[in-house]
Amino acid sequence: MPQATFHFPTGFLWGTATSSHQVEGSNTNNNWSAWESEPGRIKNGHTAGLACDWWGGRWKEDFDRAAESNQNAHRLSVEWSRIQPRPDIWDEDALDHYRQMMRGLTERGMTPMVTLHHFSDPLWLVEQGGWENENTPALFDKYCAKVVEALDEYVNLWVTINEPNVYVYSGYLNGGFPPGKNDMASAFTVMRNMLRGHAAAYRTLHRLQRPARVGIAINYRSFVPARPGLPTDTWMAKFLHSNFNGFLNTLVDGKLRFALKSDSLPELIKTQDFVGLNYYSRDKVTFKPLATNDLFHKLSYPKDADLSDTGFIANIPEGMFEGLKWAKRFGLPVIVTENGVEDADDDLRPRYTIQHIHQMWRAVNFNWPVKGYFHWSLVDNFEWERGWTQRFGLWGLDTETHARIRRASVDVYADICQRNGISSEMVQRYSPEVFEKLFPG
Ligand code: FCB
Repeated sequence: MPQATFHFPTGFLWGTATSSHQVEGSNTNNNWSAWESEPGRIKNGHTAGLACDWWGGRWKEDFDRAAESNQNAHRLSVEWSRIQPRPDIWDEDALDHYRQMMRGLTERGMTPMVTLHHFSDPLWLVEQGGWENENTPALFDKYCAKVVEALDEYVNLWVTINEPNVYVYSGYLNGGFPPGKNDMASAFTVMRNMLRGHAAAYRTLHRLQRPARVGIAINYRSFVPARPGLPTDTWMAKFLHSNFNGFLNTLVDGKLRFALKSDSLPELIKTQDFVGLNYYSRDKVTFKPLATNDLFHKLSYPKDADLSDTGFIANIPEGMFEGLKWAKRFGLPVIVTENGVEDADDDLRPRYTIQHIHQMWRAVNFNWPVKGYFHWSLVDNFEWERGWTQRFGLWGLDTETHARIRRASVDVYADICQRNGISSEMVQRYSPEVFEKLFPG
């Protein structure tokens, strides 16, 4: 049996990713908490509730778990609605709380990567139109300045906005996220304003902090034609790729092309220091001339796909390689800011994780500048409109008792982090079913 180790470069960041509303608990002053209180918005009527109770202090034990399992970084977000509960109030206690968490990470030997906006908005901002309001980028910029000043001592790796494309698609095109709109014009405005907010924050972070490294986390979706010979499917797949993933090109050429509109945003040019790539899966695209409500297409996974519990994610690791190839075109370091799978029984996660990290290793071998990987997620948390029906954690969470449940994947990932790579012996132990694929004999 072949024996080998796929090594990563020294200094590679290995961590997990979380976000404030999903793990903190007791967030009552943001758009998500309001959305959760509306009947029919969240699966099974679930609410975030106490979530993982990080705000109550349980971040300490979860950071211990991360550190003890050899992670050297953690990506988390800070909650705008806590830091600025009303337009004229900054909550110094909340900032102090976050300072303690960042200190907690560095004391445990983990590099913090902080996301400034991860889907949730303060209620007061929503009342004035949220990101449709032309003043929101400037307000976001002020909030970012406040955060960088407070966390300066501990943090210099920043994600301004998590997945603007998902925020816009889900909130303004398919209606699953607040504010539940289906309106192309608003979608375009929100995308434009989020990018303007990003650019303003990029400059502010650099002005206030010399060593800052700042980027956006994009949800990179791979789209392939369902019937590769058919020009209509091929065209539709290309269209979806450019509409969903293409917004990041605005940071190169200052031209936003989205939702069948375009605009010139020269202030966006050169406003990222790295590309943050969130990759989960790949879609097959079928052109449907009669599907007027679904933008003339249908998405699906291959018939024999290796699916997650609820069919939300198909295990298609080649899409990770494709995403990295796309991301390296920007000529900047690439950080995988999210990747993972919902899998309560943990029967898919070990091979999903190993296979995706293997694809990342292939990219590293071409000398592409991949600098880190953050697994989604450390512990099960509140999955937005899907509530608690999806379990993404290395550790499980009992939502009644809040006990953490150790899944086998904890050991898989801990081994990868410790060895800074994937060994044949590890694959044999945790995921023998893919051994041949990774180490052809
Ligand atoms: C991403 C989100 C993250 C989490 C994962 C499963 O799109 O950024 O908050 O919900 O999906």
